[in-house]
Amino acid sequence: MRIRAAALALVALLTVPAACTRKSAPAGAKTPAAAKTPVVPPPLRYEVRLGKVTFTHYCQTCHGESGAGDGFNAFNLDPHPRDLSDPQFQKKKSDAELADAIQRGGAGVGLSALMPPWGHTLSARQIDELVLYLRTLPALRKPST
Ligand code: HEC
Repeated sequence: MRIRAAALALVALLTVPAACTRKSAPAGAKTPAAAKTPVVPPPLRYEVRLGKVTFTHYCQTCHGESGAGDGFNAFNLDPHPRDLSDPQFQKKKSDAELADAIQRGGAGVGLSALMPPWGHTLSARQIDELVLYLRTLPALRKPST
C-alpha cells in the first residue's frame, strides 16, 4: 500500500510539470514580448527604501500605509492628514516644501500643530529620503474610487 502511494506520488510529480510545460509553451510558439514584462514593480532605489522604512516607523500611524491619510491614529486628528499620495497635491508641492513641513512640523509651516516637527528626530538626509519616498506614493496608489 505504501509503495503504491509512493509510486502514485512519483507519477504525479513526473506528469504535472510535463503537463504544465506543454500547456504554457506549445511547440514552436514564440513567447510574446508582454509575457516578459515583470508582474511585480521593479525594486525601489536604496534611498527610497530607507525613506520607506522611516515612513513606516514614524509616519504611518497617522498618514497610513500608503500615505492616503488613513493611519490608525488619523481619526483622532482634526484636521485629518490629507492624502499625500494624491498626484494633484504632489504637483503643487516642491521637494523643499515637503521637506520643510516634515522638518518644522505643521506649526512651523502654518498647518495643524498635530503634524509634529521632525527636525530634531530625523537627519536632513532622512528627511530627503522621506521626500523621495513620498514621491513614489502616487504610482503605488490604488485606482481611485
Ligand atoms: C501624530 C500624527 C502625525 C504623524 C506621526 C506625522 N504626521 Fe504628517 N501630518 C499630520 C497632520 C494632522 C497633517 C495635516 C496638517 C494640516 O493639514 O494642517 C500632516 C501634514 C503633513 C505634511 C504636509 C501636507 C501639506 O498639506 O502640505 C507632510 C509632508 C507630512 N505630514 C509628512 C509627514 C511625515 C514624512 C511624517 C513622518 C516623519 C509625518 N508626517 C508624521 C499628522 C502626522
